[in-house]
Amino acid sequence: MRVVSGIQTTGNLHLGNYLGAIKQWVAMQDQGECLFFLADLHALTGNVSPAELANSTVEMAATLMAAGIDDRAILFNQARVPAHAELCWILQGTARMGWLNRMTQWKDKAGKNREGASVGLFTYPVLQAADVLVYQATHVPVGEDQKQHLELARDIATKFNTDFETELFPLPDPLISKAAPRIMSLRDGQAKMSKSDPSDMSRINLIDDDDTIAQKLRKARTDPEPLPEKLDDLAERPEAKNLVTIYAALADRDPQGVLSEFAGQGFGAFKPALADLAVSVLGPIRDRLTQLLDDRAAVQANLAKGAGRAQALAEPTLKAAQKAVGLQV
Ligand code: TYM
Repeated sequence: MRVVSGIQTTGNLHLGNYLGAIKQWVAMQDQGECLFFLADLHALTGNVSPAELANSTVEMAATLMAAGIDDRAILFNQARVPAHAELCWILQGTARMGWLNRMTQWKDKAGKNREGASVGLFTYPVLQAADVLVYQATHVPVGEDQKQHLELARDIATKFNTDFETELFPLPDPLISKAAPRIMSLRDGQAKMSKSDPSDMSRINLIDDDDTIAQKLRKARTDPEPLPEKLDDLAERPEAKNLVTIYAALADRDPQGVLSEFAGQGFGAFKPALADLAVSVLGPIRDRLTQLLDDRAAVQANLAKGAGRAQALAEPTLKAAQKAVGLQV
């Protein structure tokens, strides 16, 4: 089993990233060979300033380390392993315009201004496919929003293998977190919690202090009804359901068990309990993060070490792909 996943380096890591992806990553370190990376090349497809990109890459790496990614896994930033971009170019010959045109993230991010969108935003999922295929990844732990991109990676792998009569790329399986496939905004139960939401009150950042965490949860949008006994009865109450999901995922408990405990109580009681839990889980991560950020050079050194290990694993696959398509390198 080879596990590969990444995070785009823009803005701050938040609770959705943690519960949907990072928590799985930490747990998987004992189950297989793991490579986790900061997708700094992907960040270039948005409007990110050089200073922000450089800062975000180091801070996010430190956040992953603080959350428990350690030497059992290979941690690095994508730009330091040129095999990603090199394989991406080869796969651009395989991916079809029609496939990329159907990507919902492309449609959402480009909006009505497709002519003005960067080319990189369009070909973004091809780089993502290269990210996993260059390691012949078998498993990719992600939140639900990345499922479509991984289906595309499978389509690209299948077409490449067929066109060039090879079995080079295994089809990577997306591993979508069962506990937290899609954590929603604290302000709107229909929108996912996101780095790009303009309202900071919509998300809990992993760098937030205890008071901020408690305040954001206190102010989270809810409804006046008490919590029901059954999970099914939350189907029409997305904000309430989201808070119960967050509680269950943070506590490693079943959401139905959480409801049984709080059934009949209102948010006046539930929110403080959730805030205490969130602070108890996220507080220690933030404290470790703050310490790690005192020595950014050590974080950088860790990334450089990871990049060397990653490049060594990627090189044979890249060479095989170059050979398969007839490149003389
Ligand atoms: P990114 O940076 O948006 O998110 C990183 C991870 O966090 C998950 N996630 C969520 N999970 C649950 N609820 C949410 N509200 C939520 N928001 C984010 C994402 O699903 C993801 O797993 N394109 C990717 C980065 C990437 C990548 C890759 C991932 C680049 N190359 C190769 C996997 C494999 C992205 O922008 O994720």
